[in-house]
Amino acid sequence: MKRQKIVMLTAYDYSMARLMDGIVDIILVGDSLGMVVLGYENTTKVTMDDMLRATGAVARGAKKALIVGDMPIGTYDNEEDALRNAKLFLEAGAHAVKIEKKPEIAEFLVRNGIEVMGHIGLTPQTITDFKVQGKDKESADKILEEAIQLDEAGCFSLVLECIPMELAKNITNKIRIPTIGIGAGVHCDGQVLVSHDILGLYGDFKPKFLKSYAEIGNDMKKAFESFTKDVREGKFPDEEHSFH
Ligand code: KIV
Repeated sequence: MKRQKIVMLTAYDYSMARLMDGIVDIILVGDSLGMVVLGYENTTKVTMDDMLRATGAVARGAKKALIVGDMPIGTYDNEEDALRNAKLFLEAGAHAVKIEKKPEIAEFLVRNGIEVMGHIGLTPQTITDFKVQGKDKESADKILEEAIQLDEAGCFSLVLECIPMELAKNITNKIRIPTIGIGAGVHCDGQVLVSHDILGLYGDFKPKFLKSYAEIGNDMKKAFESFTKDVREGKFPDEEHSFH
């Protein structure tokens, strides 16, 4: 029997989380927040404060989905920091945390009662060449090995980002936990994309794996223009929107 795919999207605020709750399986409060919400070039300036505020907002909006908080760079470099910060995510309303690579930290967190989602392949916190990873045999073997280690560490799922679909298939077949792909082809157990990307809200760059499902950015611009025009032409507020 074909198993239903796991669906994960990112959210960083109450309204967006509320809209997707009950539809997607997992809401990832991703550190992509640094780019699509805070306007940084990459995720490396994102802080715990940024992530905890967003996680709290998402948790207030989502009551059905599993909420995963993405631990920012530098917050899980050693066991003590990792556990302290992971607990802060749970206090803010996350059910689990995501970390990039680091199987030994994942294992420590799991041993201490934290549900951990792994993330390998293109890992934006540390990578310098933003291109498909694992194209040659040596790097593909390394990524497979990392997947096995994170599985053995007790992670409950694993994000595979920007790797060839054949490698993603091999990993998905070899490990016990579900894989969630982003730019990793059709064979993963689930898929994730950044909500702002599928909605047409963030246009700074458009990777090949991205599919657009709406152009809400254009609709928003039209609304901003209409409101500006109405105010300038004295058409808003009108009688209907005024008090006596
Ligand atoms: O931060 C994020 O949004 C992510 C996903 C792209 C997996 O890590």
